[in-house]
Order: sequence, then C-alpha cells, then structure tokens
Amino acid sequence: MVRIGELPTRLLALKYGCDLVWGPEIIDKKILTCERFENEKLNTIDFLSTKNQNSGSKNNENFSNLVFRTYPLIEKDKLIFQMGTSNPDLAVSAAKIIINDVSGIDINAGCPKHFSIHSGMGAALLSTPELLQTILKRLVEEVGKPNKKPISVKIRLLPTREESLNLISKLLTTGISNLTLHCRTKTMRNREPPIRDYLKEIIEKCNEHNKRFFFLQSQYGKSIGCMIASAAELNPTCFNEFGELPWYITCKEFIKLCDQFENHKGNTKYCLTRMIPSGKSKFSKKLHDLISRAKTHDEIKKIILQDLNENDILKEQDIKKRNIQHDYSQPNSFKKIKVGTTGDDET
Ligand SMILES: Cc1cc2nc3c(=O)[nH]c(=O)nc-3n(C[C@H](O)[C@H](O)[C@H](O)COP(=O)(O)O)c2cc1C
Repeated sequence: MVRIGELPTRLLALKYGCDLVWGPEIIDKKILTCERFENEKLNTIDFLSTKNQNSGSKNNENFSNLVFRTYPLIEKDKLIFQMGTSNPDLAVSAAKIIINDVSGIDINAGCPKHFSIHSGMGAALLSTPELLQTILKRLVEEVGKPNKKPISVKIRLLPTREESLNLISKLLTTGISNLTLHCRTKTMRNREPPIRDYLKEIIEKCNEHNKRFFFLQSQYGKSIGCMIASAAELNPTCFNEFGELPWYITCKEFIKLCDQFENHKGNTKYCLTRMIPSGKSKFSKKLHDLISRAKTHDEIKKIILQDLNENDILKEQDIKKRNIQHDYSQPNSFKKIKVGTTGDDET
C-alpha cells in the first residue's frame, strides 16, 4: 500500500497476525533504476535507485534513494511486491530484479488515480484487458513459473455485473494464482459502500478455475480472505485475533520499528498522524501538531515514547465518557472517536 506499505507498518501487521503483506505499489521503470544491496547494519535487503533524482537537493533530508526495503528474517514467505505497469517487457524485466527477495508479484490494475491511469497503468488496465492479460501471462511464464512464485492481480469492478464477470474470466486464463477484488468501480470512492451483490458468482467462477480467493472468511467460507488497507492504516495491529492494541501502544511499537529500520521521517510522520485519533479534543490536536512540527526522527521518538503519557489519555477518556456517555473503559474504546477518512489515497 502506498505510504502505509513501508517496512515498519508491514512488520507491525505481521507481528499482530496478518498473513501476507503488500509493499507499496512501485512502478516498473523505478525498479529498473535500482540496485540491490545487502544492508549489514539493519539486516535488510535494500533496493536503491542509482538514478540521480536529487539534482539541486543534495542536502535535502527529505530525499531518499531507497525505493524498497525488506527484512527477510520476518518477511520471508510473507511479502508480496506490488508493481505498477502498462508494458509487458518492462514488467518482466522489473519483476526479475525483485523476485528473489519477495514471495510473489502483484499487478495493480485497480488504482484510479491520475498518476497511474494517465500512463495506462492501474485501473486504466481494466479498459485494456488484452494488454493486462499479456502482462500477466508473460509474468507467469517468465518470472512466476521459473521461480515457483505466484503472480497475482488486483482489480476493481467494471460498471456492470456482465462486464466484471467477463473480465475476471479472461484474467483467470492467464495462470495467475490469486486475484484481489476491490469491490468498487473505478469511479467509486472508499466512503461508498462496496458492491458485493455478485461476489458469490465471482467466487464460483474462480473456483471453477481452481483458484483460491480470500475474502471475509466468516461470511463466505475459509477459502476466501481479504486485503485490508484503511483499518490497518489506522491501527496495523487490527489483524490480532484478540483485538487491536490501543492506538497509543501501537504508536509506541511503531516508532521503535521506525527507529530500528531507519524509516524515512516523512513516512513515520504520515503513519503516526493516521494512527493518532484525529478528534476535536485538545489532546489529539496537540499531539498532531507536535508530530507535524517535529524536525527530526529523535524528536518524534521523544514525543511518542516520553511525552505520550497514558495518564493523559485516560484522563481524556474520562472527559469523553462524561460528555458523550460512551464506555471508554472498554478495550479499543478509542475506536469510538471519529477518525479521518483516507481521502485521496484510495487506490
Ligand atoms: C493509504 C492507502 C494506500 C493504498 N495503496 C494501495 C496500493 O499501493 N495498491 C493497491 O492495490 N491498493 C492500495 N490501496 C487500496 C486498498 O488496497 C483497498 O483496495 C481500498 O483501500 C479498500 O479497502 P479498505 O476498505 O480496507 O481500505 C490503498 C489504500 C489506502 C487507504
């Protein structure tokens, strides 16, 4: 997932029960500029862009040539690399660079954002199914099979049931191992309810092709699972079968991972501001302000590990309890504070 699919969030999600994690969508051309490095200090595998994109901004600390980082000790067998592409040759070449360090390659054919569709990638591929088929077939034959790793695709629904089922039938002939369906069309936003009316038919279709899908297991059976983004963005421990950790504990665990893996400051700030409830309370506002004003990673670390005082939070919970009569003494009580929507990030 873009921004929230970086290493610290992935590790936290895995620690709390997520089975498979997706990296952020990375464009084929970007991977082709990368070299692989074994980072002995962090025990990570890093893909660094050798292309000089920082002309004039050498001292800009916001610049990083780190494109992708994985921590095999934990992520081995659990990490799916997601690629943006609209070109079979580039897709295959890029996939060959990355395949040994990941457990599978997923093609993003669901992103409706301009940066993706203007160059024929993302949800634009839904309108060029032959091209999407070629990309998937070539990846299956030239990368998936030789390396015994799954190739998959993520799509959205087309405007009608027939069109969607037709598209899925075509994709199922390519040899893909998995298909993720975002149950919205490309013009729908995340705040609109997903369309699940003919999910059963889709599942049957996939089963005919002997493909295993995952989606809301309790509702549709054990061969189905789901890809979770927004809930994991707000609290990556949401996969925990015993319930997610309170947000302030999650933030503390998260910042330690960011520190350990030298996460990019901008990404750390972004993720934390998603995890900290954005209520109207003075406390939340103050915390958001402090994080966004922090100049260094150490400053952010201090705010979260030292200044984020659980007593203040509990006091805050008491005030809320009196004001709106919610039972904030219950675990996960902060879920009841309204949090912002993901806005522009719906891909
Ligand atoms: C912050 C954020 C980043 C996302 N990045 C990606 C991405 O890189 N690739 C992708 O296929 N979907 C991406 N998505 C879309 C989600 O995978 C998912 O289809 C969508 O958010 C609906 O699921 P949800 O209700 O669990 O968020 C992203 C969503 C969010 C909120």
